[in-house]
Amino acid sequence: MAEHLRFEALAGQRILVVGGSSGIGFAVAEGAAQHGASVTITGRDPAKAAAAAAALGRDAAAVTFEMTDEPAVAAFFAANPPFDHVVVTAAQLHGGRVRDLPIELARATFESKFWGPYLIARHARITERGSIVLTSGAGARRPRAGRAPVAASSAATEVLTRVLASELAPVRVNCISPGLVDTPMLRAVRDPASAAPQQPVARVGDPAEIAFQFLACMLNPYMTGSVIDIDGGMALV
Ligand SMILES: NC(=O)c1ccc[n+]([C@@H]2O[C@H](COP(=O)([O-])OP(=O)(O)OC[C@H]3O[C@@H](n4cnc5c(N)ncnc54)[C@H](OP(=O)(O)O)[C@@H]3O)[C@@H](O)[C@H]2O)c1
Repeated sequence: MAEHLRFEALAGQRILVVGGSSGIGFAVAEGAAQHGASVTITGRDPAKAAAAAAALGRDAAAVTFEMTDEPAVAAFFAANPPFDHVVVTAAQLHGGRVRDLPIELARATFESKFWGPYLIARHARITERGSIVLTSGAGARRPRAGRAPVAASSAATEVLTRVLASELAPVRVNCISPGLVDTPMLRAVRDPASAAPQQPVARVGDPAEIAFQFLACMLNPYMTGSVIDIDGGMALV
């Protein structure tokens, strides 16, 4: 395998993980840091972000800003040198049936899941050979009752990925679509002791299994505009 297609090629790369203080984003940051990348993670809670950065080691930095706040996003990127790779996993979602979910919460889901990544892509400064990796979710192809804003904002993020891949070239833009993954977000809505999901890989995923594919998106120079399902086959059932 060519040297640039190995995870070791991440050594010395500057990687920003928006949402890296928890869950899948933390696993992405951890995987990149283990291969020698210089990682900056973000969240909104300063203590949580600082603790996550400390767990990643001394080459990791923590920053806090609200990713739906355009002046804050613009100021962050203006104050920092370009990153090699920018990952967005951050989101705060609200589920509920269209007739039950207050419209403010439906709009807040889109604000976070779609407009947050949009603003990051709008302002991020990225090196020519670098990339953006966004995050959608299995709901985009497997919409279920009670998931309208979550599924629709995930689908919108996938379309945004493809548009950005054209607009930002040579910077590459890809998207990972996870299924059920054992993170604080999932544990807030699903008891870890509940029955195994009925899908070809009949279990909840580990964040590291999703992070593996984020790292591959960063490294593969021929990959752009791709949306990758990492969901244990959830989209098939
Ligand atoms: N876990 C799953 O089963 C699953 C399934 C399908 C898709 N996904 C998608 O995968 C992504 C990661 O999910 P996760 O489970 O890893 O979530 P998580 O553990 O809740 O982590 C979310 C991260 O985003 C940050 N964040 C949230 N809203 C933010 C905002 N407005 N501005 C800045 N930072 C913000 C949080 O930091 P603070 O708490 O400090 O704000 C935290 O670092 C999400 O896009 C989610 O929709 C997850």
